[in-house]
Amino acid sequence: MKKKKCLSQILVASLIMSMALTGCGGARQAESSAAPAAESAASVASAPAASGAAGFAADSTIGVALPWLGTQNWKEADEMFRTQLAAAGFKAIVQHADNKVPQQQQQIESMIQNGAKVIVVGPVDGSQLGSVLEEAKAANITVIGYDRLIENTTGIDGVVQFGSVKTGELQGQALLDGLAAKKGKGPYNIELFGGGPADPNAPNFFKGAMTVLQPKIDDGTLVVVSGQKDFTQCATLDWDNSKAQARMDSLLSGFYSKKEIDGVLSPNDGIARAIITASEQAGQKIPVVSGLDAENESVEWIWSGKQYSTVAKPTDLLVGKTIEIIKSLQAGSGMPAPTTKVNNGKTDVGVYELAPLVVTKENAKEVFAKDAGRLALLK
Ligand code: BGC
Repeated sequence: MKKKKCLSQILVASLIMSMALTGCGGARQAESSAAPAAESAASVASAPAASGAAGFAADSTIGVALPWLGTQNWKEADEMFRTQLAAAGFKAIVQHADNKVPQQQQQIESMIQNGAKVIVVGPVDGSQLGSVLEEAKAANITVIGYDRLIENTTGIDGVVQFGSVKTGELQGQALLDGLAAKKGKGPYNIELFGGGPADPNAPNFFKGAMTVLQPKIDDGTLVVVSGQKDFTQCATLDWDNSKAQARMDSLLSGFYSKKEIDGVLSPNDGIARAIITASEQAGQKIPVVSGLDAENESVEWIWSGKQYSTVAKPTDLLVGKTIEIIKSLQAGSGMPAPTTKVNNGKTDVGVYELAPLVVTKENAKEVFAKDAGRLALLK
């Protein structure tokens, strides 16, 4: 698709640049600082999986288990996996689990029964798929985590994702930049929101953001008026926008009846719009709010000045990378070398990592220059 090309090129370029700056990501330590000391390289799940090593028929069944279709990125993934797996000659089973763990377990179970050679999983809950994935492993099926890590299991062969801690750093930095640009001199009153606690990305986004924000909280530039600064206090169950809006309503009525709120850390675009709506309804001036996904509605809000920033993590790049790995497995070449690795609580998992990119009104035209769909929203 031509429209995605420019953004893809920018991201690939920024990935190459960041690899150059860090002296190449290949040798970089796992993102999770909680990761136990590296085990031997042999345990890294980048070795050819049993099925991959032997290759499989070009028209094999490939399963894709997505968590839900509640945000634009997952809807895009659903559509792109269907189209692109079929175009590559595979039989695709693409399902989503409506954010329900048992439903996802059953869907994966049935993909195993249907003879899938590879199962791609965006988990509803990163730590609830251990037994069904061990079953997949026993059946020599290669399991690839998609967008989200799968935790506490050896039944995962790799994960394709945008750097999750890096995403949070971009969100935290955008909030700081936006405050300086839009709200005069500090100190600034802010609140913090996290994503769904079952999603392994959510604590990483928050952690990345806090590496940027905590020093500014410590030096008094930022004031978290509610005092709610732990991920568990700030998380949004199931990434549910209405729960975020309810929390924002009560923060505003509880702590801001005589104060102005200047900024809010938001983990994605849906929650950003919920936060902005709650602020407007409470009669506040619109705070500076971060986001994620470059959802159409938020791209419009960024252009009109209602939302300050988002982070683009283009679905076509993530799906494209996943299909490239599936083709390598099909050809008998095994899993390609990963960018880095992360410990999932049970084993070191190879990560195929892409670079996210921050978007504000200032760079939106440039970022979406060849993304006809999003570019059309900038007017
Ligand atoms: C994804 C985000 C998405 C969120 C909620 C996360 O795992 O990385 O793109 O907004 O889930 O669906």
